[in-house]
Amino acid sequence: MRPSSLFTIVLAAVLVSADRLTFRGCQDKVKESLVSPPRGWVQHAPAPQDQIIRLKIALAQPSFGELEEHLLASSDPAHERYGMHLSKEDAHTLMAPSQDSIDIVSEWLSEHGIGEEYLHRSAAKDWITIHVPVSLAEDMFNTQFHVYKHVESGDTFIRTTQYSLPSVLHDHVDLVQPTTMYARFKPMSNTLHFMGGITQEFEFSAVTGSITGPAGNAINATCNYEITLDCLRELYNVGSYTPSGTSGNKLGITGYLDEYANFEDFQNFMKLENPAAVGSNFSVIAINGGQNNQTLSAAGLEANLDVQFAFGMTHPTPGTFYTTGGAPPYTPDKMEPTNTNEPYLDWLDYIMNQTDIPQTISTSYGDNEQTVPPSYADRVCKGFAALGSRGISILFSSGDGGVGDNDEDPSTTNCTANNGTDATTFLPSFPASCPYVTSVGATVNVPEVAANFSGGGFSNYFARPSYQDSVVKGYLSSIGSEYAGLYNSTGRAYPDVSAQGVNYVIMYRGAPTNVSGTSCSSPAFASLVSMLNDARLQANMSTLGFLNPLLYSRGVAALNDITEGSNPGCGTKGFKATKGWDPVTGLGTPNFGKLKDLVLGNSTQ
Ligand SMILES: *[C@@H]1O[C@H](CO)[C@@H](O)[C@H](O)[C@H]1NC(C)=O
Ligand SMILES: *[C@@H]1O[C@H](CO)[C@@H](O)[C@H](O)[C@H]1NC(C)=O
Ligand SMILES: *[C@@H]1O[C@H](CO)[C@@H](O)[C@H](O)[C@H]1NC(C)=O
Ligand SMILES: *[C@@H]1O[C@H](CO)[C@@H](O)[C@H](O)[C@H]1NC(C)=O
Ligand SMILES: *[C@@H]1O[C@H](CO)[C@@H](O)[C@H](O)[C@H]1NC(C)=O
Ligand SMILES: *[C@@H]1O[C@H](CO)[C@@H](O)[C@H](O)[C@H]1NC(C)=O
Ligand SMILES: *[C@@H]1O[C@H](CO)[C@@H](O)[C@H](O)[C@H]1NC(C)=O
Ligand SMILES: *[C@@H]1O[C@H](CO)[C@@H](O)[C@H](O)[C@H]1NC(C)=O
Ligand SMILES: *[C@@H]1O[C@H](CO)[C@@H](O)[C@H](O)[C@H]1NC(C)=O
Ligand SMILES: *[C@@H]1O[C@H](CO)[C@@H](O)[C@H](O)[C@H]1NC(C)=O
Repeated sequence: MRPSSLFTIVLAAVLVSADRLTFRGCQDKVKESLVSPPRGWVQHAPAPQDQIIRLKIALAQPSFGELEEHLLASSDPAHERYGMHLSKEDAHTLMAPSQDSIDIVSEWLSEHGIGEEYLHRSAAKDWITIHVPVSLAEDMFNTQFHVYKHVESGDTFIRTTQYSLPSVLHDHVDLVQPTTMYARFKPMSNTLHFMGGITQEFEFSAVTGSITGPAGNAINATCNYEITLDCLRELYNVGSYTPSGTSGNKLGITGYLDEYANFEDFQNFMKLENPAAVGSNFSVIAINGGQNNQTLSAAGLEANLDVQFAFGMTHPTPGTFYTTGGAPPYTPDKMEPTNTNEPYLDWLDYIMNQTDIPQTISTSYGDNEQTVPPSYADRVCKGFAALGSRGISILFSSGDGGVGDNDEDPSTTNCTANNGTDATTFLPSFPASCPYVTSVGATVNVPEVAANFSGGGFSNYFARPSYQDSVVKGYLSSIGSEYAGLYNSTGRAYPDVSAQGVNYVIMYRGAPTNVSGTSCSSPAFASLVSMLNDARLQANMSTLGFLNPLLYSRGVAALNDITEGSNPGCGTKGFKATKGWDPVTGLGTPNFGKLKDLVLGNSTQ
């Protein structure tokens, strides 16, 4: 929005707020409220009344059930509609709000001086974005905003703990955010986990020659403690497969929070690990004011890791890096909307309006599920479902805190429920807990065992989807009453799969650096999925789209089951990896050769 129109809206707001309106004679009714801001956040100062904030209003989606049905049919390999994905237009039709909802919300907004010219509608018309001064937002939502501060990091932003809407709007509006949303969506990579990457059993002197990988082939012994592109190819049985580069296949990596993927580091990484890809490049798409600072000292650890491993593995597949704006700290610049750190909706808003979307997309950012309101989690998850229905495979890292939270320092982790009870509880991650994404946990060493930070557990928001019903029930009965009360046994269980997650060697600000985390695992798994999509496209087949129904059925035979290790946290030893699915490593790590045969229909099973 141009500054001039912002100015106009400020004036309109001043006129309207002087004379408080009730809408169609209706009472305001609380739409969402929190008992208190999440642990770790404190009210810092009143929000400046003339500060412009940017809010997104979600209109109800009456046909979404149909989209969901379509998604499940088109991703189930046993279904006759397998692989028959929706077009952009069809998906938008099923995401669209009713005309009644559009009309009544428009009427309400215009009563507050927000005419059509001051709002942005998403391509499917299911989201409205407005820019309003705090004073007007307080009036519209019958609330008070404050500046809240995250004590540990010093991050600040404008939020509230409760907001209302006229009762007549409640069925038409799903949510208004960011209002009660306190997530920070941190990157999942870290240079600290597993200092040195060496487990107790590991002896350095033993590192010579070759060892046997999960697919039974001989692999470089160094892959036991340090991961390169060659290691992933050997471990996961990629063989000599090289993508075509011209099949129409693309791979996407999302970046948030001022994480920049550095071009120079990218070249130097290829010199180190994939000389054939030296001189290749990736494109950068900026969303919502996302920057692309190429100063070497501005390179992001997460962004560099993601693009180097994903695009290095899949060369010459075209790669796209999305840099989405909106990061703390909040700076009191009154004419500019605040930085909201509400990344997914802006990214979804952008991507949904594209016709040509990378068929595989990996994201390594997330936060504790309880830091996002259920309504927000639900709508963002539906956005990922809509992408799946269009044939896009969406992968997320599962989190780096085991059964606890993703805090860098486990000693400050309290594992406390945020619902007023202060009950001790395992802390699931979002979006890893969304049933319509593929959530990727981490392993370490060869033979592979669970990495002890591998995020896993059970959602408190999303019910267990049918595709994982039988394996999760099997796991639950194997653990009996262990940890009863600390996790929600009816929730969506994650991760779905896993991949190596310790000591990836990347180039970072000019030097080789070791990185660990499920942040490594998601782009690694996604790069193999991207090559599967390439193989399908070369064979004139549709893309894989939403992966889980395939992975949990025929896919099991093409994955390496990981049966050792656990993910401690919250003062417990965490869940144990076992035979079959477990909430540490999911179904296991990939065997590309077998997966390729499976998705091309050459499998003998
Ligand atoms: C969708 O994309 C088209 C073409 O780039 C653009 O003209 C239009 O404004 C976009 N719509 C939305 C809602 O962003
Ligand atoms: C990465 O970790 C391994 C194992 O500890 C070590 O041998 C190697 O030197 C490290 N590499 C870098 C670049 O720090
Ligand atoms: C995870 O494993 C590493 C390496 O063995 C160890 O240093 C660390 O203490 C373990 N973390 C937990 C929470 O057990
Ligand atoms: C094994 O790893 C070492 C160290 O990275 C490397 O020098 C060597 O070329 C690798 N060998 C194979 C066969 O990949
Ligand atoms: C990659 O693309 C960027 C942006 O277009 C450009 O600045 C950079 O020089 C390119 N690198 C190579 C090796 O082509
Ligand atoms: C880019 O990053 C560098 C290093 O952090 C910083 O000094 C510089 O101001 C940044 N440039 C822009 C345009 O933000
Ligand atoms: C965790 O609990 C301890 C002891 O009650 C407290 O000092 C610490 O601030 C808490 N940490 C967080 C992140 O809330
Ligand atoms: C609060 O959360 C805990 C942990 O998830 C749960 O066991 C408890 O039932 C919840 N209580 C309420 C009142 O929601
Ligand atoms: C447990 O998960 C279910 C969804 O399966 C949810 O409806 C319920 O509220 C959750 N319980 C708690 C205490 O969060
Ligand atoms: C795919 O379709 C194209 C165009 O119809 C055709 O030329 C090509 O031979 C087909 N390839 C395969 C593997 O069927």
